[in-house]
Amino acid sequence: MLPARGRRGFLTTTYALFAAALVLPSRAADYVQKNITNTPGFRLLPGVASVPAPVAVAPDQDWMGIDGAWNTFSLLVGDAHANVRVLASTASQQIWVISCLACVANVTDPGSQHAFSPECADSRGHTYNTSDSDTWLQNGYYQLWIEKNLGLVGNGLYGFDSVGLGQEGEKGPYVQNTTIGTVITANFWLGHIGLHPKPTNFSAFQDPIPSYMTNLFEQKSIPSLSFGYTAGAQYHDQTVLGSLTLGGYDASRIIRNDLTFVLAPDNERDLVVGVAGLTANTTTAQNINLLKRNDVTMYIDSTIAELYLPIEICAAFENTFGLKYDKDTDLYLVDDALHQSLLTQNPCVTFTLGQKYSTDATVQITLPYAAFDLEASPPYRGLQEKSRYFPIRRGNASNEWILGRTFLQEAYLTVDWERQNFSLSAIDWTFGKPIELLPIISPQYALSSYTPRKKRGLSSTAIIGIAVGGGFLFALLMSAVAWWFWHRRHHRKLEAMKAQYEADVAAAAASKKDKPDTCDVPPMSPIRGSREGRTVFPKAELPADSAVHHEMSSGAKEKDGMAVVEVENTERQIYEMPGDMPERQEAGGRQLSEKETMVVRERLYNGVDPTGTPNGSPIVQEPPRRLVPISPSEVSMVSGRLATSNVSPITPRTPRNGAFLEATDTFFQLPPYRPRDGRRTEAEEDFLSPVSPMESTDTSRRRFSYES
Ligand SMILES: *[C@@H]1O[C@H](CO)[C@@H](O)[C@H](O)[C@H]1NC(C)=O
Ligand SMILES: *[C@@H]1O[C@H](CO)[C@@H](O)[C@H](O)[C@H]1NC(C)=O
Ligand SMILES: *[C@@H]1O[C@H](CO)[C@@H](O)[C@H](O)[C@H]1NC(C)=O
Ligand SMILES: *[C@@H]1O[C@H](CO)[C@@H](O)[C@H](O)[C@H]1NC(C)=O
Ligand SMILES: *[C@@H]1O[C@H](CO)[C@@H](O)[C@H](O)[C@H]1NC(C)=O
Ligand SMILES: *[C@@H]1O[C@H](CO)[C@@H](O)[C@H](O)[C@H]1NC(C)=O
Ligand SMILES: *[C@@H]1O[C@H](CO)[C@@H](O)[C@H](O)[C@H]1NC(C)=O
Ligand SMILES: *[C@@H]1O[C@H](CO)[C@@H](O)[C@H](O)[C@H]1NC(C)=O
Repeated sequence: MLPARGRRGFLTTTYALFAAALVLPSRAADYVQKNITNTPGFRLLPGVASVPAPVAVAPDQDWMGIDGAWNTFSLLVGDAHANVRVLASTASQQIWVISCLACVANVTDPGSQHAFSPECADSRGHTYNTSDSDTWLQNGYYQLWIEKNLGLVGNGLYGFDSVGLGQEGEKGPYVQNTTIGTVITANFWLGHIGLHPKPTNFSAFQDPIPSYMTNLFEQKSIPSLSFGYTAGAQYHDQTVLGSLTLGGYDASRIIRNDLTFVLAPDNERDLVVGVAGLTANTTTAQNINLLKRNDVTMYIDSTIAELYLPIEICAAFENTFGLKYDKDTDLYLVDDALHQSLLTQNPCVTFTLGQKYSTDATVQITLPYAAFDLEASPPYRGLQEKSRYFPIRRGNASNEWILGRTFLQEAYLTVDWERQNFSLSAIDWTFGKPIELLPIISPQYALSSYTPRKKRGLSSTAIIGIAVGGGFLFALLMSAVAWWFWHRRHHRKLEAMKAQYEADVAAAAASKKDKPDTCDVPPMSPIRGSREGRTVFPKAELPADSAVHHEMSSGAKEKDGMAVVEVENTERQIYEMPGDMPERQEAGGRQLSEKETMVVRERLYNGVDPTGTPNGSPIVQEPPRRLVPISPSEVSMVSGRLATSNVSPITPRTPRNGAFLEATDTFFQLPPYRPRDGRRTEAEEDFLSPVSPMESTDTSRRRFSYES
């Protein structure tokens, strides 16, 4: 084939191969690392000539899963380049592949090769046999760790091997030596690409192992620790595949809004959004309120298919749509009659999401019934046969509330792990738009070229300066107080006006009720919501307001012991929406911000006492850049176990998955796991012995969730 190409083509090819060989040793010769110099929105630092281009991971054409139909991505694993199809997990930092043993009928007898089921392997996105790879370096059996608070537990055989994105003929970047968990449990039917940057700490005696994302970043395959992801949707007129971009996002898929969320400090629950509204429209009723609690914060997690909602909200769904809870499977199974009724009602569910401690702006994501019209197949949750189901689940505790993949069919998630912020956008369904990859550049390479943020609060010199002009300060304070009262009244008035307006619109809509489509979402719908908060609340530049603001954020810092709140997005003011967080009152009667409440709540669930927290420095102007936020307070809380002195904010920490199982040599000595749900898969049944001492690590381990 070379002679046919002519000399120039040959030279170009040779050059490309040579360049690729320089960047990526060995087999990945046909992926060529590209660097870019054009970085919209970012100014490269002096000395940085170019940065790696963002990587669009090509989706497969397949839709797989036993809990719905999900678009997958291909990986090439090991030196034999085994092709596996996996999901994207925003919660995990590892590569998970399905072990070939998962598809051997009788796992207790691995010698019986004939028992291997190719249908099973196909259904699970192809399995991986570690003996097929000469470069596999086995590490041992460890807990899978993530999602165990949902009762989705299991062990994995962990090791290190090469993992490339893409497939033969369409290869992406390649990591030579990265953490791989091989999975058997049917709790996780498909493997995944972990998008989280936290490292894995297998044991206290082994150095923390960098995540797959960190590997890609450090080998300069991607411009930052960031990604953009949407799950894709099979149900639109044109099937729309998922989209995964590493080191950037695909601007062609989103309806822009300028709401930015801040990562929460718990790196096992960091992509947290507050639910400000949850309504449904059906053909017969508009604006049905489903938000039966007003303290709801949800964790966005693409590892999970369903939406785990508070029980009260599940009840509201049951009442509104006639859903029936199936006790055997814990699912809302949908039979033909209910399916017909749902198609007739054609419900359309709108989430209004925000983050009160950083801004009042919200974004609205609307899910049509088709997004909820999923099919589950055995062995999912012990089902005996295929069944439609409505993918909401009862979440008993607030640390179980999750917006899963179902939600990400209609939402695009962009996460910048280094700047510790993320955004959610409604999907632009315009068909046939060309991909428009925009890079997110690491602070190591570039500065955001947005207008520099104003300092939050007042510096101490400014405070002294103002104190000197005491009368002036007094006047300012008075006007601030006056403004504050005016603002609150104004706010309430506006709320009332808004409610009235909505009622009017609803009435108007009701009068022309023949319109069958309840989802009022054209492909190019305008930015929803994001404007609301900001036009309603004029930006106040009053210094005293800054002081109020400052106090609140330093309060948060005392609680957090750190400055996570202080990320970039400071032009917007903090306003509490009235009456939204009932449990916000602390013993001292001080109002807690949502952020603080969240932190406190996390600690409660972690079994860590929030009191006795040493104060963090109240005036921290610049947030330290940390991949894994951790506060001094948390470190000192576990100081019985851990010397605080060896902890610095930049030490990578927080082993999440795969902690604390003794390595064993065969599957049959696996330290047993008992799923909390009491639901087991056949394969697992073989591993499980009644109760073992290992089980106690479950809770005790959680206490050290911030330890590293
Ligand atoms: C790509 O950019 C990175 C970061 O600036 C740099 O280290 C690397 O040498 C560049 N690679 C090429 C091929 O220009
Ligand atoms: C995995 O590969 C080894 C070596 O090729 C083979 O002996 C074994 O049977 C394979 N296991 C399965 C489950 O296919
Ligand atoms: C699995 O294999 C073992 C040993 O060959 C046998 O004793 C056991 O009954 C088998 N279990 C099943 C469920 O077939
Ligand atoms: C919630 O509690 C119920 C009853 O105790 C249980 O069946 C269900 O599995 C629990 N859900 C989760 C997500 O833990
Ligand atoms: C791969 O990574 C592991 C863990 O960091 C390390 O122990 C091992 O030596 C590495 N293997 C190679 C071939 O670099
Ligand atoms: C994680 O690694 C660090 C650094 O090697 C070590 O000090 C720490 O004890 C480890 N933590 C756990 C839970 O294994
Ligand atoms: C993070 O914050 C910066 C500065 O405010 C903003 O420009 C960027 O869009 C945010 N990133 C995300 C993913 O929201
Ligand atoms: C639901 O109905 C209300 C009132 O007609 C309307 O304002 C709103 O846009 C509708 N929501 C959706 C998602 O169509």
